[in-house]
Amino acid sequence: MSEEIRIGVFVCDCGTNIAGVVDVPAVVEYARQLENVVLADEGRWSCSVDYLSKLQDHIRENNINRVVIASCTPRTHEPLFKKTIKEAGVNPYLLEFVSIREQVSWVHMKEPEVATEKAKDLVRMGVAKAALLEEGQEIRLPVKTDCLIIGGGAAGMNAALNVADQGFNAYIVEKQAQLGGLLNRICFLSHDNRKTPAARVVRTLIERVDAHPNIKVYTDTQLESVDGYIGNYKVVLKANGDGATAKMDISTIIVATGMREIEPLGQFEYGNDPRVVTQLQLEDLLRSKQLGDVKNVVMISCVNSKNETRGCCNVGCHVSVKNAIAVKNLRKEAAVHILYRDMSLIREEGVAQQTAKRLGVKFLRFPDDRYPEVKAQNGQLAVRIYDFLLGRELEIPADLLVLTTALQGDDTVEQIRGHLKVSANPDGFFQEAHVKLGPLEFATDGISLGGCAKAPMFFKESCEAGIGAAMKASIPMKKGYIEAEGIVASIDLTDCNQCGLCSKRCPYSAIKVDEEKNPQVIKALCKGCGLCAADCPKECISIVHYSDEQVFAQVEAALEKDPGDKIIAFVCHWCALGGVDMAGVSRLQYPPNARLIRVMCSARVSMKMMQRPFELGAAGVLVAGCEFPTCHYISGNYAAETRLKRAKKKLAKAGYDPEKLWNIWCSAADGPKFANTMRTMVKELDLK
Ligand code: FES
Repeated sequence: MSEEIRIGVFVCDCGTNIAGVVDVPAVVEYARQLENVVLADEGRWSCSVDYLSKLQDHIRENNINRVVIASCTPRTHEPLFKKTIKEAGVNPYLLEFVSIREQVSWVHMKEPEVATEKAKDLVRMGVAKAALLEEGQEIRLPVKTDCLIIGGGAAGMNAALNVADQGFNAYIVEKQAQLGGLLNRICFLSHDNRKTPAARVVRTLIERVDAHPNIKVYTDTQLESVDGYIGNYKVVLKANGDGATAKMDISTIIVATGMREIEPLGQFEYGNDPRVVTQLQLEDLLRSKQLGDVKNVVMISCVNSKNETRGCCNVGCHVSVKNAIAVKNLRKEAAVHILYRDMSLIREEGVAQQTAKRLGVKFLRFPDDRYPEVKAQNGQLAVRIYDFLLGRELEIPADLLVLTTALQGDDTVEQIRGHLKVSANPDGFFQEAHVKLGPLEFATDGISLGGCAKAPMFFKESCEAGIGAAMKASIPMKKGYIEAEGIVASIDLTDCNQCGLCSKRCPYSAIKVDEEKNPQVIKALCKGCGLCAADCPKECISIVHYSDEQVFAQVEAALEKDPGDKIIAFVCHWCALGGVDMAGVSRLQYPPNARLIRVMCSARVSMKMMQRPFELGAAGVLVAGCEFPTCHYISGNYAAETRLKRAKKKLAKAGYDPEKLWNIWCSAADGPKFANTMRTMVKELDLK
């Protein structure tokens, strides 16, 4: 026999924050009448220690097994209430949170009656969903202490040393015959040439790595295959020469594959004339002291960068100044010109420029749209530049022309991203999980990102990023486990037609197809975005806390009364709900027509969810998610955008006006955008 559903509804006054606008006793009284509700109570400050303990008493005394909290925003207070009900013996996933402060009292301050009715609606929606909630639980995966570092340059070696210093095992795999990466090609690390020969730095790093008992190095070796997930990667390495393989069990992975120059073939006579080289090729000449008897060295900055394809390369200005000084130190009498568009130099790099000027290096600026031209005549190279400051053309002889070119990720990036199922941008730089929230890791748990594999960096930054990646990898290894949220997908195979769509679409590779072609969710990898559930053509996939039935119950409860006045707004938990909360915090006043339904990601909103409100007579539907590209589930908002386009066509076919389906992508600071959308929707949908 199934358990009787006994819901407790706790409505907060939040001092006067809610009770100053909403008639809280009326909402409590209303909640008492709802099906399955056995207790409704008003709390002056529901999150206070006193009230939380009273709430626990209510749960125990009334055998409450589902809880609805109507108060502030789940983004700040949900964890506290989850913990509270867990301590009172209720599974924390049996809690539904209703926001009647940010979504009601703070944004409809001048309409207390309307606000009270909206609060009742939201409580009714919460109760309807709560009745269908199922238990969930956090998932714990063991994580051992073996870390693979892909790439043995500055970042990789620093990462390995920091992992190893904590007592963990570090395995470096380096495709070249020796460690060092780009450092092996660089002459000096800064303008202060003599103090910072790169060779010495590499030597010291390699000595430390070689001497460390916890580090094992595989040079001349590449990644052959990777399978598994955090705590349980099966890795195969393959030696370049004899093809010998090594198999290992790995718990975490650090990607530190570095970068390379984009060769400017065919530009500025590069590739046609051996006197035209890149900065790295100049470094080779400086290092091997084979500069020859050069008299005129000309450098051209921003080759293939700062254009429509890519932005500033981050390091070019510094590299050209540093190398100009190195040339001057080697050939004092040589004339050195740096032709630049903008000089982006900070802190000590500015000092470097002064040093270069003192040594006689000339800096000439050219306009953005008028790059210098190179011509070869009578065996001589000359560079023609329009000098921005002089306002006229100059011709400079060059017996060595150095191009400061744009940079790209290593040539192994495609192969590695295939193995690890991670993303990279068109220039082959790996993409972090989130610019602000996850700059040192990929979205996939257990894989972190260090150094120039992410973007061009200076030596110091690259080392720091390597150390940061090591720290990220070390956290689960130190704890010995990772714990994943219980909001995950589950698949009922009864109707599954084995189309494999879920496995292909999952941004986290959390759905594997087994030998019988059945999809299986690896719960520890699933983040619960719901993209798979929304796209499954057979509707076999359910998401804990966000099942179809639960969401439809909310939709139906919202539209029980006056559906024609209402907008159903599906809002992602992260940026979109952040924007809604910000509108509340800023006390932006907007029309009260929307009834918000929280989903973890806009990707969860299926076509059926977009259509169901119209079937029930809703005036409009809004899907709100994070702005691009900052979806908290990598590509969820892109999937949602594609689905919205399809949904509009489907709505039109079904006889509904597709123009009534709206969407916005906003940041968590975009309160005004959400409020304005509400105003515009109400106006365009012709609502009261
Ligand atoms: Fe906001 Fe995906 S989390 S759209």
